[in-house]
Amino acid sequence: MGKSSMIFHYFLVISLFVLVSSSSGEDTIQQSQNISDGQTLVSAGGIFVLGFFSPVDSGKRYLGIWFAISNTTVVWVANRDKPLNDSSGILRIDSTGNLVLAGSPPSTIFWSTGQTSSAGATAQLLDSGNFVLREGSSPTAGNFLWQSFDHPTDTMLAGMKIGPDYRTGRDRNLTAWRNASDPSPGRFTYKLDPRGMGQPFVLDNTTVIYRSGPWNGIQFSGSPSMKSYPMFYSTVVQNQEEAYYQFGVTQATTLTRLVMDYSGVARRLLWDSKKAGWQELWSSALDRCSNYLFCGPNGVCNGDGSLPCNCLPGFRARNQDEWDIQNWSGGCERNTSLNCADGDGFLPRMGMRLPDTVNSTVDMSMNFNECKETCRKNCSCAAYASANISGGESGCITWIGDLIDLKTFGEAQDGQNIYIRLAKADIGTFYHLTHPRFYSIKITYDWSEPAPQGCSDVHIFGVPPS
Ligand SMILES: *[C@@H]1O[C@H](CO)[C@@H](O)[C@H](O)[C@H]1NC(C)=O
Ligand SMILES: *[C@@H]1O[C@H](CO)[C@@H](O)[C@H](O)[C@H]1NC(C)=O
Ligand SMILES: *[C@@H]1O[C@H](CO)[C@@H](O)[C@H](O)[C@H]1NC(C)=O
Ligand SMILES: *[C@@H]1O[C@H](CO)[C@@H](O)[C@H](O)[C@H]1NC(C)=O
Ligand SMILES: *[C@@H]1O[C@H](CO)[C@@H](O)[C@H](O)[C@H]1NC(C)=O
Ligand SMILES: *[C@@H]1O[C@H](CO)[C@@H](O)[C@H](O)[C@H]1NC(C)=O
Ligand SMILES: *[C@@H]1O[C@H](CO)[C@@H](O)[C@H](O)[C@H]1NC(C)=O
Ligand SMILES: *[C@@H]1O[C@H](CO)[C@@H](O)[C@H](O)[C@H]1NC(C)=O
Ligand SMILES: *[C@@H]1O[C@H](CO)[C@@H](O)[C@H](O)[C@H]1NC(C)=O
Ligand SMILES: *[C@@H]1O[C@H](CO)[C@@H](O)[C@H](O)[C@H]1NC(C)=O
Ligand SMILES: *[C@@H]1O[C@H](CO)[C@@H](O)[C@H](O)[C@H]1NC(C)=O
Repeated sequence: MGKSSMIFHYFLVISLFVLVSSSSGEDTIQQSQNISDGQTLVSAGGIFVLGFFSPVDSGKRYLGIWFAISNTTVVWVANRDKPLNDSSGILRIDSTGNLVLAGSPPSTIFWSTGQTSSAGATAQLLDSGNFVLREGSSPTAGNFLWQSFDHPTDTMLAGMKIGPDYRTGRDRNLTAWRNASDPSPGRFTYKLDPRGMGQPFVLDNTTVIYRSGPWNGIQFSGSPSMKSYPMFYSTVVQNQEEAYYQFGVTQATTLTRLVMDYSGVARRLLWDSKKAGWQELWSSALDRCSNYLFCGPNGVCNGDGSLPCNCLPGFRARNQDEWDIQNWSGGCERNTSLNCADGDGFLPRMGMRLPDTVNSTVDMSMNFNECKETCRKNCSCAAYASANISGGESGCITWIGDLIDLKTFGEAQDGQNIYIRLAKADIGTFYHLTHPRFYSIKITYDWSEPAPQGCSDVHIFGVPPS
């Protein structure tokens, strides 16, 4: 086959594909139209489908959106806690411009957007998976009366915002299904807590069970593995109107989702077209350090070592007997109380998931030295770190009280540096006991001056003395 005929062939295949996908459904409904059970809307590029479905082992009917390539991968459910018992469901735009899911008799309303419009309205399923209601029929971007992306179910898609919207007072979070057969809101929530630099949490009802670590301008300090996926970019935005976490994909053909599943694990998945299945890239249950506060206050969790928990240098177990039988929950306390007047010092720790920033103070205007000075002068400041490590170190986070939910990454290029206030008596002596290949050593160091950056850890490789 000649080159030109190959190109022709290629275009023929593409146009056939476009024909096939566009013939399988409309993406829009107008005011006079409706979608009944059995009919679907298909987004223009054929990526998402909107229609009625029943979850596995359930006869109930729900209006939802799913991936065209995987019709069991439901990403959004309209009437998640008000199912229909039969196939009488009809989605239509009523005379007030409201998008309404009615049953039989038509006066039974199972779901609606609650938005009305004077100028008529159209609803469209976009290729992003966003189902939008707009005034009039003009397909201009933005200015939606309502969009499903503002009302997530259990799934985050590229372009969606997770975090509080201060204008509406609503939290945009992912709430897991109750179980595989029941999409009604379950126990588990994935949400962005805006305090500090913004941290994603997984909650079991109201209890934190997982924390990604604060945003540091590049990533969440506790999930470094995302760096190795160049097909994604992430951002955290905080302003007067809203705070949110959002991710995007560099190629529109990348299909990915972040789901808060009903077992309590948040997962990021990528569609693998060769295997025709979802590949898990990340989960909130990677290792024992994923359990929030596994090592107790001021404890440091070590994901890959034989000993999961260590106290921060200069700290000792609060309850040594419990610690010795591997009950870490009590955590650690200072070996020597701070005495600000007597010259406390700061011990750097590299490659850490930063502590919970819920009670921290953030000042984006400071540089690193101003941050250090602010913490040094304030006797209740327990630790400090740069708030933004994108393009150097800038901004300042300071912590008071206990340092909560720390984790160490063996390699310093993961995680972040934190500087921990210690009493003079403890600053000269510290231990590194975090890796089975590093045996216990004791180093005495005159720490009257803070250590130069990058000179904090001494790793000695070898076999521990028997
Ligand atoms: C749904 O739309 C069809 C035409 O598109 C119409 O015949 C039918 O009456 C509508 N049903 C309802 C309940 O509005
Ligand atoms: C999903 O696809 C399977 C196989 O093509 C089909 O049997 C099933 O009815 C589809 N389910 C929905 C909800 O479209
Ligand atoms: C569906 O069936 C259940 C169980 O019979 C009943 O409690 C519920 O009210 C029904 N829902 C509707 C909308 O008819
Ligand atoms: C999740 O968002 C919903 C809707 O805004 C809200 O009612 C709920 O309280 C939020 N859940 C948590 C745990 O913040
Ligand atoms: C799912 O939850 C519903 C009610 O919450 C319950 O009736 C049903 O048995 C559960 N299904 C499974 C598979 O656990
Ligand atoms: C969530 O916690 C509240 C308050 O502790 C409790 O009343 C409620 O039953 C809990 N919900 C679940 C699903 O466990
Ligand atoms: C605590 O301080 C005492 C006395 O200074 C010292 O002997 C001991 O090694 C320290 N323990 C830790 C865990 O730092
Ligand atoms: C673990 O230790 C804490 C005190 O540090 C204690 O309150 C708790 O009961 C212990 N848990 C178990 C399972 O023994
Ligand atoms: C934040 O401060 C409150 C009040 O002092 C305390 O109860 C809570 O445990 C602290 N949380 C964290 C994560 O430090
Ligand atoms: C010391 O730092 C804490 C936390 O950053 C802050 O709440 C407190 O106001 C500061 N105290 C002074 C005197 O600046
Ligand atoms: C973090 O620093 C980079 C480089 O200086 C800057 O472009 C970015 O806006 C900063 N981020 C925030 C949230 O201040």
